[in-house]
Amino acid sequence: MSVKNEKIGIFGSGLIGGSWAMIFASVGYQVQIYDIVPEQISGALKRIENELKQLEKENILRGTLTAQQQFKCITGTTDIKELVKGAAYIQECVPENIELKRKIYAQLDAILEDQTILASSTSTFLPSVLSAEMKRKSQVIIAHPVNPPYYVPLIEVVPAPWTKPEIALKTKQLLLDVGQKPVLFTREIEGFAVNRVQYAILNEVWRLVASGVLNVRDIDSVMSDGLGMRYAFLGPLETAHLNAEGWANYCDRYHQSIYDVSQTFGEIPKMEGPVVAEIAKQLEEMCPINKLPARREWRDNCLTQLSQLKKKI
Ligand code: NAI
Repeated sequence: MSVKNEKIGIFGSGLIGGSWAMIFASVGYQVQIYDIVPEQISGALKRIENELKQLEKENILRGTLTAQQQFKCITGTTDIKELVKGAAYIQECVPENIELKRKIYAQLDAILEDQTILASSTSTFLPSVLSAEMKRKSQVIIAHPVNPPYYVPLIEVVPAPWTKPEIALKTKQLLLDVGQKPVLFTREIEGFAVNRVQYAILNEVWRLVASGVLNVRDIDSVMSDGLGMRYAFLGPLETAHLNAEGWANYCDRYHQSIYDVSQTFGEIPKMEGPVVAEIAKQLEEMCPINKLPARREWRDNCLTQLSQLKKKI
């Protein structure tokens, strides 16, 4: 693998911006990171360099270029015009604040070039809401990663009603080229898919704890020691397909019980009041707040090993 000439802009050099930079540099794109805070850029570059070296040492660096070759692909700038100039793709990674994002999209709208795709990392805002006021709205799309994106490959690619189809297809292809797993939506929808599924799970988990059926440790175990084990390899639909003589047979056998149990789910919880404190207490017994950074490191390490296992099998 050799370095490429195409330029990728990363707008915002925090947690997610840094990960995107590493992903694009792993296959040799010329990556430029932009931030309004100069120390933020130098800090991000330092962090990226250390992380790449560490990954290389542990033999888990992505791509075939060395850590040094990859790091050489990444530069920083505080000049927005420099960032935009000649960029094939810009990944916006500023904090999740609609006013801030819209302000930035207005700035970019004035200087964006014809070929540039503007993709947002937003977890919550619909692309139509982000780009409604823009002249160049047809070049905007969502590319929503799952944290930490260096190890969790899924990207939700969500077009606005006015996003040009070729922008959506090019975004998908680019993300495939860098080794992510993009899923391309046919239309925008609140919460995209990850959060819609995640919220459905959270709602039921809340109800089971709130009604005293299971405690926090045990309900989490239902996922991490049960469902999650197979969901790391198969989705819920293929799981069902395998759990009977095919999907149609699964529906035949289980549709009535799924419907009956679903009738007992109850109200959508508001996630406020004393149950919040009760869940917090039990979670903090499992992992005190001051141990969260260490636990995140442990999680990332587990995900690294899982992603290697998935590649191997
Ligand atoms: P962060 O707070 O770590 O980084 C944001 C960066 O944007 C900082 O470096 C900040 O200096 C910079 N920034 C702020 N205002 C700016 C401006 N006007 N111009 C240029 N740069 C500016 O935030 P994080 O966690 O990286 O999130 C970024 C985006 O990614 C958000 O939209 C978030 O919803 C999304 N996301 C975050 C995930 C997570 O788990 N942290 C997961 C998936 C998506």
